[in-house]
Amino acid sequence: MWQALKDHHAKVKDRRFETMVDADRATGFVAQTGDMRLDYAKTNIDADGRALLIDLLEQTGVAAKRDAMFAGAAINETEGRAVLHTALRNIDGDPVIVDGQDVMPEVRDTLDRMAGFADDVRTGRFTGQGGQITDVVNIGIGGSDLGPAMAVQSLAPYHDGPRCHFVSNVDPADVAAVLRSCDPATTLVIVASKTFTTIETMTNARTAQAWMGQSVADTGAQFAALSTAADKTAAFGIDPSRVFGFEDWVGGRYSMWGPIGLSLMIAIGPDAFRAFLHGAQSMDRHFQSAPWQENLPAMLALVGIWHNQVCGYATRAVLPYDNLLARLPAYLQQLEMESNGKGVSMDGADLDVHSGPVVWGEPGTNGQHAFYQLIHQGTRVIPCEFLVAARGHEDDLHHQHQLLVANCLAQSEALMRGRDLDEARSKVADKFSGDELERQARHRVFKGNRPSVTLAYPKMTPEVLGQIVSLYEHRVFVEGVVLGINSYDQWGVELGKELATALQPVVEGKQSAAGKDGSTAALVEFLQMHGVS
Ligand code: F6P
Repeated sequence: MWQALKDHHAKVKDRRFETMVDADRATGFVAQTGDMRLDYAKTNIDADGRALLIDLLEQTGVAAKRDAMFAGAAINETEGRAVLHTALRNIDGDPVIVDGQDVMPEVRDTLDRMAGFADDVRTGRFTGQGGQITDVVNIGIGGSDLGPAMAVQSLAPYHDGPRCHFVSNVDPADVAAVLRSCDPATTLVIVASKTFTTIETMTNARTAQAWMGQSVADTGAQFAALSTAADKTAAFGIDPSRVFGFEDWVGGRYSMWGPIGLSLMIAIGPDAFRAFLHGAQSMDRHFQSAPWQENLPAMLALVGIWHNQVCGYATRAVLPYDNLLARLPAYLQQLEMESNGKGVSMDGADLDVHSGPVVWGEPGTNGQHAFYQLIHQGTRVIPCEFLVAARGHEDDLHHQHQLLVANCLAQSEALMRGRDLDEARSKVADKFSGDELERQARHRVFKGNRPSVTLAYPKMTPEVLGQIVSLYEHRVFVEGVVLGINSYDQWGVELGKELATALQPVVEGKQSAAGKDGSTAALVEFLQMHGVS
C-alpha cells in the first residue's frame, strides 16, 4: 500500500516545490468549508501524490469506517466501545443508536441540565456560603483538563461568567497556587474525571475539599462532578443534582463537548457553548459529505501522512498566530499522540510504518524568537502548521493584528523560499570579502523547500473553535484508520501508573527499594537523603 507513495516520493523529493506554487496551485491545493480555508500549496504534494494519498483512504475504507463511527458502531475494538463524541454535538441531528437505543434524548437532557446549572451559577441563583460564585476551579487531568482549559483560554473574549481556573498536576504547587487565589466561600469546585479514579484528580479533589472545609460548613454543596461513575461521585459526597454524567462511548480526550465542558459553559454561557457545538457539528457534516479532495479533515490527515509516514519527518509543529490558541498545541499533544502513538495495528501486528508524529508548538510570534532558528536552518525538516485569523478582538489595535498576520505569512514563505548562497553573499558583500565573505554568507543560507500548511479563518469565535477542534479530531481519526490502529484506547499510559502506585510506599520510606533496579533505588536514596520521606 505504501510502496507507490514511497516510489513517488523518491522521484520528487529533490525538486523545489516553490517552483510549482503558481496561481492554479494556490486555488487547487486548498480545501475550504464555509469561511475556513486550509492551504497546503506550500508542500511537495503534487496532483499525482495527492491521488496516491487519496487512494490510501479508499484502500483502508475510511468512508465506511467514518460512517460506522457516526452510526455508533463499536470501532474502539480493544475496549469494545462506540466512539460517539460526535453525538454530543449532534444537537439538531438525527437519532444515534447505540445498543438499540437512541442516545440523543439523554445527550440533550444532560446539555439542558448543564445549561440550567451554568445559568444558576452565572446569575447567582446558585451561591456558595459567601454568596455569588466568583471562581470556578476545574480539577481534572488529560482530557478532563486540556480541552476545557484550552477552550476557556481560546474564548476569553466571550467570558462573562466567574473566573475559571484549572488544576491538573499532582504536584501540590499547582493546586496550592490556584486555591491561594480563591475565596472558598465563593468558589465552586468541579471534579472532572471520566473514571473518578485518576489518582492526580482524586488527590487534588481531596486537597480542595480540605481547603474548603476550613471555612465552609457544607463543602459538598460547593462541589460538582463530571463523570461516568455515578457510584463514585456519590461516595465522594457530591449530590446527584450536581453530577453530570456521560457514557463510556465518549473518550476522555474527545469529551469537552459534553459535561467535561461545564467550566467552559459557565465561563461563556450556554448560548455561546451551543454555538461552539454548532461549529463542531458543521465540521462533522463537512467531514461526512465533502469529496476527499475538498474535505478538510481528510486532506489535513493526508498532508500529515505524507510528511510523517512517507517523507519520514518525525515531528510537526503547530504554530497558532492567534494568542487565544496558546494552549492548542498542548491540547493537540494529547489528542494526537495519545490517539495515534501506537505501534501495533488493530489485529495486534507491528505497524509497517511509523506511528503518529511528535506534535509540539507555541504561538507565533513568540516561537520565532525561540525555536524557529532550528525550523529554518536545522538539519531536520519540521513540517509546520500555521493557524491565523483575519481579525482579532482588539479592533482599536487592528494594525498590530496586521503585523501578526504578516509575520505568519512571512514564515511560511521563508520556509518555502529560503535564501541561496548568492543572495546571502549579496546581503553581506558590503561588510566582508574573499574567504570571510564566503564563510559569513554560508551562515546566512536558508535551504528552504520546507513545507507548511496554513489554516485561515475570519476570527476566533465559539463556532470557529468548534470547527477547528472537530477538524483535528477527524484528522486523527483518518490518520488512525490509514495506519490501521485503534485511535481510541490508551494502554501506553498504564505501566507508568502501576509503577507509580508501587513506588509510593518506597518513596515514603515505608517499603525498601530492594528489588528495584539500581538507578531507581539510588535515586530514591538520594531524594530521601534530601527529605522526600
Ligand atoms: O492519561 C490517561 C487518561 O485515561 C486519559 O486518556 C484521560 O483523559 C485522563 O487519563 C484522565 O482520565 P479521567 O477523566 O478518567 O480522570
